[in-house]
Amino acid sequence: MTMTAPDVHDGEAMFDALIEADGRIEPRDWMPDGYRRTLIRQISQHAHSEIIGMQPEGAWITRAPSLARKAILLAKVQDEAGHGLYLYSAAQTLGITRDEMTQQLVDGKARYSSIFNYPAPTWADMGAIGWLVDGAAICNQVPLCRASYGPYGRAMVRICKEESFHQRQGFEILLTLMQGTEAQREMAQDAVDRWYWPSLMMFGPPDDDSPNSAQSMAWNIKRFSNDELRQRFVSMLVPQAAVLGVTLPDPELRFDDETGRYETGEIDWTEFHEVLAGRGPLNTTRRRHRRDAHEEGAWVREAAAAYALKKQRRTAGEAA
Ligand SMILES: [Fe+2]
Ligand SMILES: [Fe+2]
Repeated sequence: MTMTAPDVHDGEAMFDALIEADGRIEPRDWMPDGYRRTLIRQISQHAHSEIIGMQPEGAWITRAPSLARKAILLAKVQDEAGHGLYLYSAAQTLGITRDEMTQQLVDGKARYSSIFNYPAPTWADMGAIGWLVDGAAICNQVPLCRASYGPYGRAMVRICKEESFHQRQGFEILLTLMQGTEAQREMAQDAVDRWYWPSLMMFGPPDDDSPNSAQSMAWNIKRFSNDELRQRFVSMLVPQAAVLGVTLPDPELRFDDETGRYETGEIDWTEFHEVLAGRGPLNTTRRRHRRDAHEEGAWVREAAAAYALKKQRRTAGEAA
């Protein structure tokens, strides 16, 4: 009897049929190399963003204005660490190791969301980050719960639940400031002024300048285009800004009755590309901080590995 190797075309046909039926691709399924590469890139960038994103807020934990605020911020930053871990795990199912991904990040070879290269100089930044950055993250991530790659989509379900708490806590910080003194209102408005445009950039370049989007949509990884998601975000922000009493810093922002869409002013794509190319306000600081933390944590990883080995030997000894 001869055994035939599984035909790659069977795998391909199966993959195509699953995508066609809007089904889920799982780690052991055959998948095109491009699909695997795209997911490794996207999921690892997403994981890095969660981890680097802990820095601007982590720096405020010791300076939070009350014990309650400190507890909330601490929980939020811990959630982000958790998001990073689920996502690194999801990426590992595609054949890359955690060490490789970490190395790419600390060596400056991996990208992460450019929003985290902006500074957070005031307490109001905690409000603006939660409201705008986590708000944009939700718009981006809710459709990813239906991403065709199973481990990614499942990780996103829990992440999105936590993101909506993050967005509300940011909104509530801003609301409290806006109901405070004149100086507090100014601080809140200033933070919104600084984070608004970078948060619009989080959706990526405009559709006519987004070469990989079509393939990601054909593979059911991406469900909506960058501009569609940006539009959803703006239509979510406008009524919330009115409740807060803050002004969105775009004099050209208006609702077009004919198209039923918001028209915004021109986004500064030069700034976007500069930050993406590593020339944002804090790119070097963020990466250096991550690298130092990784190096300083080496003894923890070594101790954990030594303990695991000792435990394994003891169990083996008992079995013998
Ligand atoms: Fe997150
Ligand atoms: Fe978040």
